[in-house]
Amino acid sequence: MPAERQKIFAANWKMYKNGEEAEIFIRDMRRTAENCPHELIIFPPSVYLERSATAAKGSPIHIGAQNIHWQAEGAYTGEISAAMAADAGCTYCLCGHSERRHQYGESAEMVARKAHAAIHNGLIPVICLGETLIQRENGETLEVLYNDANASLSGIEADPRLVVAYEPVWAIGTGRTATPEDAQTACAFLRKVIGEKWGDCAQQIRILYGGSVNPDNILSLMECPDIDGALVGGASLYLEKFTKIIRCK
Ligand code: PGA
Repeated sequence: MPAERQKIFAANWKMYKNGEEAEIFIRDMRRTAENCPHELIIFPPSVYLERSATAAKGSPIHIGAQNIHWQAEGAYTGEISAAMAADAGCTYCLCGHSERRHQYGESAEMVARKAHAAIHNGLIPVICLGETLIQRENGETLEVLYNDANASLSGIEADPRLVVAYEPVWAIGTGRTATPEDAQTACAFLRKVIGEKWGDCAQQIRILYGGSVNPDNILSLMECPDIDGALVGGASLYLEKFTKIIRCK
């Protein structure tokens, strides 16, 4: 019998929206959030974290950082620490989003250090991973997920609050979504891999799907037993689309 897991719907705004747009979106989303059975997270650009957290205050909307550094402080120009993100009002942070891994050379080892720093500072990490198109075409998907999940969780103790996002790289921002069957296979496999490390705790971990999620494909994805919500990029920039996604179930 699978454990009851509260679904998470998360908006990854990437490098979009100015401060005023972020504030208006969150203010307008509050009513939807109040009647929502799911957990909701917004990941705004780091410069608007505090403003977004203020706009979300008193509502069930969580604010998360899109990226953090693993060090507490230091000469790391342009970076923010987990403690700084928490101080700005964050409760979550993304670790190892594919754009960070592939455009900025973030290794699984760095991702593990970030996740560790997040937990140490009271943030819940959302660890993102997924195969590239070439890896998929070579039949390496499960091997990539196995290696990446193990390396990205290295040294991290079992924690049922931790969130994993399966985001096939070829589906991010492309309009191509994994079929529900493929997404379910990948998410169930990730749960098994986490179970080998963390035992029963894996049944409580929320595993999200991400990659071209939209109001038309969300329902079939959410009907999969091992998919516990979605990490949404492009469609999350529009309140109407994101609201439809949240209300799919
Ligand atoms: P997308 O982005 O929904 O635009 O594909 C998802 C993500 O990058 O998390």
